[in-house]
Amino acid sequence: MTAAAPFRLGTSWKMTKTLGEAGAYADALRSAVEAGSVPPEVRLFVLPAATALAAVRDRLAGTGVALGAQNAHPGPEGAVTGEVSMSMVRDAGASIVEIGHAERRTLLGETDDMVADKVVAAVSAGLTPLVCVGETTAERARGGTEDVLARQVRSALSRLGSSRPDELLVAYEPHWAIGSGGRAATPDEVADGLATVRQALAEEMAGTPSAVLYGGSVHPGNVADLVTGLDVDGLFVGRAAWTASGLLDLARRCAEALGERRTPDLVSAIVRKDPR
Ligand code: PGA
Repeated sequence: MTAAAPFRLGTSWKMTKTLGEAGAYADALRSAVEAGSVPPEVRLFVLPAATALAAVRDRLAGTGVALGAQNAHPGPEGAVTGEVSMSMVRDAGASIVEIGHAERRTLLGETDDMVADKVVAAVSAGLTPLVCVGETTAERARGGTEDVLARQVRSALSRLGSSRPDELLVAYEPHWAIGSGGRAATPDEVADGLATVRQALAEEMAGTPSAVLYGGSVHPGNVADLVTGLDVDGLFVGRAAWTASGLLDLARRCAEALGERRTPDLVSAIVRKDPR
């Protein structure tokens, strides 16, 4: 990440919020942006349920808050009952599409193959893919984390051929850290996984602007540690950002913690001065 790159802070609302609730959340975000209370160094994105995309798009227009879908089908529009296409979510206001979230992989059978097809479809629809990768508890227990992460990143990008997105987001979200049954990770527990993801991404997508995010039980009590303790370009949040005030509180905490981050140059200068 370059010093000038904005820090991403995003939330998936998952399967929550009526239209009224989604609208109220978006209105609160708009008011915060207009009041100047969103720190400029943090770039927000929200992923509502598909039913609320268009309504949230209308309310957030011009605020700079990016909008995305939580999923879309990789095929062209047609006879696929119950699905929405990439171009349909784009038409409803999405500029981002989340692909391969742990809940979709475990609850809905989303495979690496499906993820790869969705990435291709997202890019051809002009959407920014937000690819989620992460190891299960069992994979971690047998020491397979790095292999799983490298495989998931490479596989997700394997069908792009020469086409490239304008931008690519990858979220490292260990399955064991996500949701109400999850355990919040310490920076030490996930630093190596993040480095693996960044390395695989650099090898596969050299030259494509990309950001590596972390997600899984991010909350007000651990957000500062994650920002200062990890080489990460953003955070991806579920429950703690299901209210607008929760997202805005995290944004403020991120901005404060970013001010305390030491760049690698600064760290080596400090080490040189104090060579203990
Ligand atoms: P959580 O969800 O913050 O509620 O653990 C994270 C995610 O699924 O992205």
